[in-house]
Amino acid sequence: MKKSNDFEFDDLQGLLRFGYGKLTDSCFMLLNIANVEAAKQWLKTAPISNAVTMDSPPDTVLQIAFSVHGLRILGIGESIISDFSDEFIYGMTRNENCSRRLGDIGRNAPERWEWGNDSVTTMPHILLLLYAKKGKLEAWRKTVEDERFSQAFQLLRQLPTSNLGRFEPFGFDDSISQPTIDWTYRQSTDPHERDRYSNLLAVGEMVLGYPNEYGQYTARPLVDPKKDHLATDLPDAEDDPTLKDFARNGTYLVLRELGQDVPGFWQFLDKASDSKPKKREQLAAAMVGRERNGTPLIAEHIPGISRKDHGNHFTYDLDATGNHCPISAHVRRANPRTGDLPGNITDVGIIGFIRRLTKILGFGQKPEEDLVASSRFHRLFRRGRSYGNVLAPEDAIKPDIPAAKHGLQFICLVANISRQFEFVQNAWIANSKFNGLHEEPDPLLGNREPLMSGESTDHFNRPDPSGPMQKICHLPQFVAVHGGGYFFMPGLRALKYISALPANGGNRSS
Ligand code: HEM
Repeated sequence: MKKSNDFEFDDLQGLLRFGYGKLTDSCFMLLNIANVEAAKQWLKTAPISNAVTMDSPPDTVLQIAFSVHGLRILGIGESIISDFSDEFIYGMTRNENCSRRLGDIGRNAPERWEWGNDSVTTMPHILLLLYAKKGKLEAWRKTVEDERFSQAFQLLRQLPTSNLGRFEPFGFDDSISQPTIDWTYRQSTDPHERDRYSNLLAVGEMVLGYPNEYGQYTARPLVDPKKDHLATDLPDAEDDPTLKDFARNGTYLVLRELGQDVPGFWQFLDKASDSKPKKREQLAAAMVGRERNGTPLIAEHIPGISRKDHGNHFTYDLDATGNHCPISAHVRRANPRTGDLPGNITDVGIIGFIRRLTKILGFGQKPEEDLVASSRFHRLFRRGRSYGNVLAPEDAIKPDIPAAKHGLQFICLVANISRQFEFVQNAWIANSKFNGLHEEPDPLLGNREPLMSGESTDHFNRPDPSGPMQKICHLPQFVAVHGGGYFFMPGLRALKYISALPANGGNRSS
C-alpha cells in the first residue's frame, strides 16, 4: 500500500489538500494577461504553495488556475487543449441548453452576469487566490503584485470575500461535509465491495492523472516527450509510460459568484412561520438539512450521532421518506449519501441475499432511486469563501435593514466537470423533478422559473410525521448567479512547463 507521504504533494497545489481555514483573509483576483512574456516571467517565480504538510500553517498562500483562454494566450497548443474536457474548453455558458440545465435562466441568465459570460471580454485568463492570516493580506498582496506582475496582468475584477468564520451569510455553518481523499489507496473501487455509502474517495475523483472511482483515468492531455522537448520534466503518465502527463496533480476548478438575498430569505421564512421564531428556525433548518450550528436533522434519530457532534457519518437510509430531513433539503440533494445499492440493505442471511440480488438486477427499484444512486460518482470538494456579513435572523427581518451585498464565491474542485459539478448542479440542485419530488428544485438555490410545460418550480414540501405534508408555495429566489467559469489548476511541474513555453507557441518538436 502507498503511504500518504509517497504521494507527490510537492507537485500539487495546496488547495487540493487544505481549506486554509486558518488563513481567514482572502482575495480572489480575475486577471487578464496584458503582456504574455511578462506573464511567463512572473509565473516562473510565482510563490505558489504546494500541498506538503508543514509543522504549522503558513502565514500566506497563493494559488493559481487558468481558463482555457489563458492557456491559449500563454501558448499552450491545440494538441493539448483539445484533450481537456469539452466543458472546460467550451465553458459554463457554452449554449442555451447548458445554461438551462445549470439553472442559469431568468435572473441567473448569463446575459445578466457581471463576468464570465463572454469569452472575449469578460472571461478572465487567470484566477489568482490569495490567502493570509488575519491582518497580513495587504502586505501579501503587495508582495505578489510586484513590478513584473503589473506589466503582465490587468485586473479584470476582484471578487469580494470576507471572513465569516465557518458560516455563510444566511447564518449556517458551511464548513462541515467534505469527501476524504484516499491518498493511500485504502479503499477498493470494486462495486461489489462498495455497496454502502463511504466518504472516502479515490484520488482520481479530484486529482487528474490517478484512477477514479471507476478504477479508470479521466481523459486529459498527455504529451509525447519525443515531439515536445519541454515536456521531459512533466510527470509520467501512469497509464501510458511512453507519454508525459500535463494534467497530473492538476484539477478543474469551478467558480460561481452567488449573490444571497439574506433579508429576503429570512423575511419569507418569517412570514411562512407566522412570525414565530422557533417555527422560522425549524423551517430554515428543513430547507438546509442542518440546523444553523451544523447539527444534521436526523441526528436524534440515527444511533451514534449526537446533537453536539456535527456528525458527518450518517446516511438517510433510515429516513427514506424525509420525515426528519426533507428529501429536498439542500444538503440531502447535494449529497444523497447513497451507496451502489440504494436503500437500507442491512438484512443478512437468505433474505438479505435475495434482497441484494433483486436490487442488483434492478427489480423492485423505483425509477427515481436511479437518479440518486451511487453518490460516490458525484462528489465535490468545496473550497469557496463567503462575502458580506452574517445577519442574525432577528435583524434580517427588520423592514428597514440597509441594503448590503452578501454571497458565496462558490468554488469546487473536481476531476470531471460534467459528472461531478454539472451533474450535481443540474440533476440534484436545479431540477424540480428529483427523487420522486415535483415542482421542487433546491429550496436555497432554485431560480423559480416555470418549466417549459408551464409547471411551477417554487414549492418546498416538508413531511410532518404527526400530520399532513407541510407545503410551502411561491418561494422567491434567494440566490442569484453573478458570474462563473471553469478553470484548470495545474500541478507545479505543469506550471513550470507553461512558464517555459517559447514566445511563438509551445508543443513543438525539438
Ligand atoms: C449561496 C449558495 C449556497 C449556500 C448558502 C450553501 C449552503 C450550504 C450549507 C449550509 C451546507 C451544510 C454545511 C456543510 O456540509 O458544509 C452545504 C453543504 C453542501 N453544499 Fe451548499 N450552499 C450553496 C451552494 C452550493 C452549490 C452551488 C453546490 C453545488 C453545486 C453546493 C453543494 C453542497 C454540497 C455537496 C454540500 C455537502 C453536502 C453533504 O455532503 O452533506 N452548495 N451548503
